[in-house]
Formats: sequence, C-alpha cells, structure tokens
Amino acid sequence: MINNQNETNTHIHISPIARPRRLRVSPWIRNMVSEHRVTVNDLIWPVFIQEGNNLRTPIASMPGVERFSIDLLTLAVKEARDLGIPAIALFPATPANLKTQDGEEAFNPENLVCRTIRAIKSAVPDIGIICDVALDPYTSHGQDGLVRNGVVVNDETVEVLCKQSVVQARAGCDVIAPSDMMDGRVGAIRKALDNAGFSHVAILSYAAKYASAFYGPFRDAVGSANNLGKSDKKTYQMDPSNSSEALREVALDIAEGADMVMVKPGMPYLDVVARVKDTFKVPTFAYQVSGEYAMLCAAAANGWLDREKVILESLLSFKRAGADGVLTYFAVEAAKLLKHN
Ligand code: PBG
Repeated sequence: MINNQNETNTHIHISPIARPRRLRVSPWIRNMVSEHRVTVNDLIWPVFIQEGNNLRTPIASMPGVERFSIDLLTLAVKEARDLGIPAIALFPATPANLKTQDGEEAFNPENLVCRTIRAIKSAVPDIGIICDVALDPYTSHGQDGLVRNGVVVNDETVEVLCKQSVVQARAGCDVIAPSDMMDGRVGAIRKALDNAGFSHVAILSYAAKYASAFYGPFRDAVGSANNLGKSDKKTYQMDPSNSSEALREVALDIAEGADMVMVKPGMPYLDVVARVKDTFKVPTFAYQVSGEYAMLCAAAANGWLDREKVILESLLSFKRAGADGVLTYFAVEAAKLLKHN
C-alpha cells in the first residue's frame, strides 16, 4: 500500500498560487492592505433635547443616552466638538401641551429646536447642526404629517415642512434633513429655502427610510410612542421588502436638489446603502438607529458581546457598504475609542 505525501496532495488540491492568508500574517501587513477605515469625521451624533435647566434624563430603552436641557447639551456638544465630531443631529422632546393635531409648534421660531440651534451656534460655532424635518415631534397623533379623514396627506404636509425648514434655517441650522417621506418635499423645501435667502443651507434627505420596528426606542426618547399608539407609518415610509424602490426614491430626491442622501435603518439595510452608493455616487449616509443601538447595548450589558469591538465593527461595516458617514448614538464613545486605537 502506497501512502506518501504526493498521494495526499492530489486528493486535497491546495493551489500553490492563491494563499490569501499571506496578507493576514501580522498586523503591519493587515493594516497595509486594509480597504476601509472609520474616522471621527464619519460620525454624526444624534442628540435628544428637552425643556428646562440643568436636566439630563436617561432613556430606559437606550442605556447611556440622555435627553439634555439646552444648557447641558451645550456642554456635551463642546465635548463632541473637542473629540472632532463634525456634526450633531437635533431631536426635540416636545412637551405634551404643545402637541396639536396639525403640529404648529414645528414652525414656531421660539420652539425648542430653534432655541437649541441658536444656543449651540453661539457656544460651539464650529460644529455642524443637522435638523430633522418632520411633524411627529409636534403632532398629537404622532404622525410625520397632517392627518385629514384618517389619511396622512401629502401636499398640505409639504407646505408645513417648508415652513419648518425655513424657521430652522433662520435659527442657524446648517443642514436640513427631511425624514418625513412625503413625496416632493425635497424640491419644495429647496425652493422655500432659496426664496428665503438660505441657498447655502444643505439638504440631507432621508431618501430611503423604511417603516421599521427598529425605531421603537427613539419614539420613547422623543415621547411620540404614546401619541402614535397602534398606528404605523406604512403609507409613507418604505416597505422593508423593497430595495429597487429605494433607488427610485434616491433618484427623485437627487433630482429635486438633495445634496446628500440617507438610508435608514442602518445595519439591517446595508444592501440598500451599497446599491445607493454604487448607483449614484453621491454623499450617502446611514442611520444606525435607536433599535440597533439598544440591541448592541443589551447584548454587551449581558456580557454576550464585546461592546467596544462591536461598536467599531458595526461602524466599519457601514463604511465597507459605501456609507460616507453614520448617524450613531455611539458617536462620542466611538470617537474616544478611535483616539486610542
Ligand atoms: C421622525 C424620526 C424617527 C427617527 C428619526 N426621525 C422615527 C420615526 O420615523 O418614527 C428614528 C431614529 C431612531 O430610531 O434612532 N420622523
């Protein structure tokens, strides 16, 4: 019986040519061939604001995330700026008594968001401010638009979104981010901003925003969960089963004047991020939403995942998919980790 080396090799067929492990043999060569990298410049920090002074309120479903009153938010934003975070995204928790059927508080120049913009622009002028445009923080029913006979109406909502955008731009907002998913809102907002003298204010469109269950903790944070009740947003946010439709949404928003586009949620939708970036080559952002944050935190808190490693790996996966940046509640923590890495 013949049992030699040659016979073994003929059975296993290891090619002598392709040996990818050569490029993984030590850190220096892995670093040398690495294709993607997360830097602090990729991080946008979404923050929650509340009325009052000297207040920070924990959000139960988002451990480590707090709603800040304006004074304390200003301090937190200074820290973010010092870490090199380029921009924040503002989300207000509107007091219940200011929520109405038609959400008029959205275009009150003295509303919480506008006062926050002015405070941050004067205390921390060198950080970018991105503001959500949608009516859900302000409506008693928790929908992003106006409700008429049980229907979220499009064109009438868009008129209000234009007012909301102009008011935020006037307060000093740098980037208007419509998250409402009404048709035609980007074009209308662009026109309204230009007519009001804000042609320099950019639009980051939530172009492909899905009707997702991953937003649950956010709705607790801004206090819209109870308003929305058992209703959903499926007549305007996208069906999670669709991805070609995301390309149509993005195409429309770019045609209407969006400077940057966003896909939301993030990690469960990286295929959409990749298709959008490949197709349009425009600045493309992804939102690692509240539910994604909550999942990673919960697993880490149980000792099931290594928190720091999964934060950085999740952010890297966005970059690999083609995102130019990520809105993430981990922004401050990630910025600190990146400093030491
Ligand atoms: C509001 C808005 C939502 C989020 C951002 N803007 C919630 C929603 O559409 O119901 C979700 C963000 C998150 O879950 O972190 N239009």
